[in-house]
Amino acid sequence: MSETGLCDLAVVGLGVMGGNLARNFASRGLRVAGYQRTVEHAHALAAAHPEAHLRIAEDVAELVKMLERPRRIVLMVNAGPAVDAVLDQLDPLLEDGDIVVDGGNSLYADTDRRVARAEGRPWRFVGMGVSGGSEGALLGPSIMPGGDRYAWERLRPPLEAIAARSASGVCVTYCGRGSAGHFVKMVHNGIEYGDMQLIAEVTALMRAGLGWPWGQVADTFAGWNRGELESYLIEITADILRVPDPQTAGALLIDAVLDRAGQKGTGKWTVVAAAEHGVAIPTIAAAVDARLLSSAKDLRTRAEAALQPVRGAIQGVSADDLRDALYASKIASYTQGFALLQAASEARDYGTNLGEIARIWTGGCIIRAVFLERIRAAFTQTDKPELLMLAPDFVADVARRLPGWRRVVAAAAAAGLPIPGLSASLAWFDTLTQSRGSASLIQAQRDYFGSHTYERVDAPGVFVHSEWPKSPQ
Ligand code: 6PG
Repeated sequence: MSETGLCDLAVVGLGVMGGNLARNFASRGLRVAGYQRTVEHAHALAAAHPEAHLRIAEDVAELVKMLERPRRIVLMVNAGPAVDAVLDQLDPLLEDGDIVVDGGNSLYADTDRRVARAEGRPWRFVGMGVSGGSEGALLGPSIMPGGDRYAWERLRPPLEAIAARSASGVCVTYCGRGSAGHFVKMVHNGIEYGDMQLIAEVTALMRAGLGWPWGQVADTFAGWNRGELESYLIEITADILRVPDPQTAGALLIDAVLDRAGQKGTGKWTVVAAAEHGVAIPTIAAAVDARLLSSAKDLRTRAEAALQPVRGAIQGVSADDLRDALYASKIASYTQGFALLQAASEARDYGTNLGEIARIWTGGCIIRAVFLERIRAAFTQTDKPELLMLAPDFVADVARRLPGWRRVVAAAAAAGLPIPGLSASLAWFDTLTQSRGSASLIQAQRDYFGSHTYERVDAPGVFVHSEWPKSPQ
């Protein structure tokens, strides 16, 4: 509590993420007020963590009275109608300069709407991504605020106090105007989907394609985590693959986990947003599609029985090839994700600094990795790359990894093993790097059946129509 007896900020929604974020603020010396609709849960949290000195309000009106002005209120409630419900309650109680922060995984279009709502009111609204899961929220997340600049300056000290720290600094930055914070967090999650899918595919190739025992797979990931692939998701993969099944002696828990992936929506939103912004993100789209197909477990079982595809071992592929295929596909995926951020920043006037985004993802968040330091460096050069993969550092790297990448994709296809993420990434690469592609025929077909016109190679920009003689029936 400050000298006035008031709290520095409030957290509304004290579930796993909100509760841990409140405790994180408190651990940095901030006086934190908390509110949760189920007030008894809030009291239980405060009682379980007396060191945090959380002050629990019985209702929103009391919470508002507990705070220093201008107030800072962080919402950690479920994305969707719950955010609007709390805003409705707060709206008549807030005063000039008060700040409401939505720290959930809100859809950026909802954030745009809430930013517009706040513009007619005395209070200010900030859409803010928070990544790192429950542990990150407690010990140091990566934080992605956007929106009102004045609000950012007021939020900066407490957010810098709780954010993760990496070699390149504190993992929070102003992501841009309007809904930029939630857009950036959405793309983070899309990239997270891509990373997880690529890792799962490589794991399946090691097991079903190369016949490795789980221990060898885990050891390989642990080894990769000591090198260029060092990252949170590779690290936890090695951990996961060693956990015994408590219910079956001698078995591993991973073999007891049903192969039906859940998803809350941020990956799908990334794919929709990419299509709307005219950016191809096939690695991330493949990851979303793979989760959708994974959830159709019964259908897959019937299709396997009906179609009985022949599957075999993969030939001529080494562990280094798998590492190169994974790494090159990651370069493809992050190139797509950052291209989407760039396009959205321009179309939506966010003013997002891509180098800063890569920097705040080097620590705290789910996709944290040494790889992101390379991306940060690429985007902070004076000569910024048009596309991440076109940065000189990555051009040479991809060329070196390409033969192994191709061997993996070809061998998996020949063996009948599904690798939608790795193969979509390679197909994207091959399409991107072909200056004359197959779309000439698509244009000709469009003009044939719909007089949609086309451009000639010798007169780009001039749209013409041809009468395409029909073949005799
Ligand atoms: C993070 C995570 C977090 C959450 C995802 C999971 O950055 O901390 O991304 O936001 O774990 O929402 O998403 P799915 O349930 O869609 O996999």
